[in-house]
Amino acid sequence: MKQAIEVTKELYYIGVSDEDIRTFDIIMKTANGTTYNAYLLKTDEGVIIFDTVKEEFADEFFEKIESVCSYDDIKYIIMHHLEPDHSGALPELTRRVPHAKIFISPMAQPMLKSIAKTEDMEFETVWTKKQLSLGGKTITFLSTPNLHWPETMSSYLEEDKVLFSGDVFGSHYYDSRLFDDLVGDFEYAFKYYYDHIMRPFKSDVVKALSLYDKYEVETICNLHGPIMRTNPQRYIERYREWSTKTDRLHGKKIISIFYVTSYKNTKEMAQSIYDGIELDDSLIANIYDLTSLDEQNMLSILEESTGILIGAPTINGDAPKPVWDLLSCMMLLEKRGKFGGCFGSYGWSGEAVDMIHHRLGALNFRIPLQPMKVKLIPTEEELLACHDYGTEFGKIVNGKMMEMTL
Ligand code: FEO
Repeated sequence: MKQAIEVTKELYYIGVSDEDIRTFDIIMKTANGTTYNAYLLKTDEGVIIFDTVKEEFADEFFEKIESVCSYDDIKYIIMHHLEPDHSGALPELTRRVPHAKIFISPMAQPMLKSIAKTEDMEFETVWTKKQLSLGGKTITFLSTPNLHWPETMSSYLEEDKVLFSGDVFGSHYYDSRLFDDLVGDFEYAFKYYYDHIMRPFKSDVVKALSLYDKYEVETICNLHGPIMRTNPQRYIERYREWSTKTDRLHGKKIISIFYVTSYKNTKEMAQSIYDGIELDDSLIANIYDLTSLDEQNMLSILEESTGILIGAPTINGDAPKPVWDLLSCMMLLEKRGKFGGCFGSYGWSGEAVDMIHHRLGALNFRIPLQPMKVKLIPTEEELLACHDYGTEFGKIVNGKMMEMTL
């Protein structure tokens, strides 16, 4: 029988390991597998469960619960996040403890009944500063939405200074030794997880950190990977550093121009746009041939750029693959506050530029200007128009009022 493991006095780890998983949520590589962390707090007046596990590991989760308490003891269930890797065992848990009250964030309410697969349960929605007291223990709830679903929340166990952070501070990294001071070096997994799960919501990370800052944290009980009990502040500071990275260089906003070109026509347009932006020395313009950038380079450039311009010819009625690679990696970034635009030379129908324009709109870029399209070889007049386009785009990135085109 699997045993619960004590984290702090009377707080137990009842999570499970998924050692053999090698891809998580389609987009993440998990070379070291992962864990689905869940916790159980014993108090003088009953038990609180914090989250559950993926459905296929439910048996082990229940064995661990049974190793430290009986189901009659369970008074409350706190669900920080309803994604199936943490709510998979909730239907069976509610069947076994129908008397237990469930705490969720307000945003989780519409999802709870469909996930729990029952109407027969008591639940309460909670937000920052609402508290739950039981047997001398006090849980303070903290609203931390969008990390990384709209309904995510955190909580803090006052007496033991434990932060239950949900997916925040997670790592897809399984090591049976469980605690950060005992496991191997999981730094790569911690950063990789942040980049893929939290970076697209870094403004919300900053808000969550300012909430966490109000509490003294000795242990971070997250939902994936090692439990953090050795100077947990350093993990908090890593998140702060990554999430407050500025999109300026030497105090100047950056506009990055990415292009692909077959006959140097789109490249000429890119160069004219670049020259137009560079007239304003309070901006920094950069220009990149997309065919020579890998995804890591793209991401790092995109993250630091306030303005992003993409140039492409049309090949076989489509934008070339490097353009789609650039557009698809943007799902890993926060687009809030970024401006986009596109341009390109074409021979026949010129669909590529329109496709890029619509894709940038769907990604929530602000698109202040209509795309620049030129048939085949740009004339002097058209290059001048590209130059003006760059200047105007730069002014808008620098704060000039704009009329949205989407
Ligand atoms: Fe670990 Fe968002 O679930």
